[in-house]
Amino acid sequence: MRMYDIIAKKRDGGTLSRDEIAFAVNGYVAGSVPDYQMSALLMAIYLRGMTDEETAQLTEVMAHSGDMVDLSAISGVKADKHSTGGVGDKTTLVIAPIVAACGVKIAKMSGRGLGHTGGTIDKMESVPGTRTALTQEEFFRQVNEIGIAVIGQSGKIAVADKKMYALRDVTATVGCIPLIASSIMSKKLAAGSDAILLDVTVGSGAFMKNLEDAIELARLMVSIGTAHGRKVAALITDMDTPLGHSIGNSLEVAESMSVLRGKGPSDLTEVCLQLAANMLYLAGKGDLVRCRAMARAVIDDGSAFALCCKMFEAQGGDTAVLRDPERFRKAKYARDLCAETTGYLVTNDVERIGNASVMLGAGRAKKEDPIDFAAGIILHKKLGDFVEKGEPICTFYADDTALFAPAEEMYRSGLAIGPQRPHVPPLVYARVTSNGVERF
Ligand code: URA
Repeated sequence: MRMYDIIAKKRDGGTLSRDEIAFAVNGYVAGSVPDYQMSALLMAIYLRGMTDEETAQLTEVMAHSGDMVDLSAISGVKADKHSTGGVGDKTTLVIAPIVAACGVKIAKMSGRGLGHTGGTIDKMESVPGTRTALTQEEFFRQVNEIGIAVIGQSGKIAVADKKMYALRDVTATVGCIPLIASSIMSKKLAAGSDAILLDVTVGSGAFMKNLEDAIELARLMVSIGTAHGRKVAALITDMDTPLGHSIGNSLEVAESMSVLRGKGPSDLTEVCLQLAANMLYLAGKGDLVRCRAMARAVIDDGSAFALCCKMFEAQGGDTAVLRDPERFRKAKYARDLCAETTGYLVTNDVERIGNASVMLGAGRAKKEDPIDFAAGIILHKKLGDFVEKGEPICTFYADDTALFAPAEEMYRSGLAIGPQRPHVPPLVYARVTSNGVERF
């Protein structure tokens, strides 16, 4: 078999066999297939697409390119979730403790920020002392003892994805549904949970910019997971506006704790309740109405917040900041960004809000850059809100005042104020299961 022929077959619109996919992917991991040939194949896939069967085979080969985690040493049903990425998307920190407080085990691996989007592991590390790299033994023991652990993804999971994703990132081949589906599902299958809830975001801050593409991505991922014997569902959620009001690591942890204490913003609370209810449903806890009531009850009785504190404590975190977010280290400087005219926020591009937050220090421009956990943005006005000229739209936080001007320029380049209130998208557009698509 020759890589040249595999590339040419896909270039001409052919369907690759399982053996051809395995030859390319395993050869790439082993080093016998060079970057330039894998780049050519990825571009051919980007332009020609893949059948569902090819995508499922690609996923399987990628999943088996590293460790397949066996969670059978942890008793009970294990549930996982994955978001395709967003800004202000702190749902894992809320949902994981809710679901665990309802008796479903959470043995979860999460990622770091990527581009304009944030990552759960960076947010967790803003809580002083928190360890996100546990040994497998520590990870399993913690889940067995308290029902929940969230750690960074092991470098040994879906090794092919790690290498291929880095290549896609620099060859303009990220935004391709079969490649995104196989990338995400290879990691989820390898991570070993029985029930997997996918949060597929759509809008200006998401990979998927339109609803039909998001539904197609969700459908494909649900079918791959279901074919591998997992319980999988997806919610299509809005990313045309950030979730909640806080963007930036410790700011988002503080907001997540407010949801767990029943005092969070209504949009974030609602999305978290829907996501948690669907996870509980997949884990066999009853119908969606019952599952939502269970999720609400563990917020109301304080048990989800208590379990969240227990998890951070078990991982070495200083829970004083969770109980009193005022104790988080504060950024040295704050600056308001004020409206230049009166009217409704008709555009507030989420990717640019995320980029502005990265420019303030909340994310990384390069992989090795340090993060300023206190940096970020608090939104006072969001898409569709009315603002008076001179009123603050948001407040920037940073340790260096020189960072404000470029971040402001980035933020304003995606902002428009107009006389008509725009259509504000729903929080959740649809639910995708192995039975089909339910649109709301
Ligand atoms: N997230 C992933 O893990 N992979 C992709 O390809 C896109 C988003």
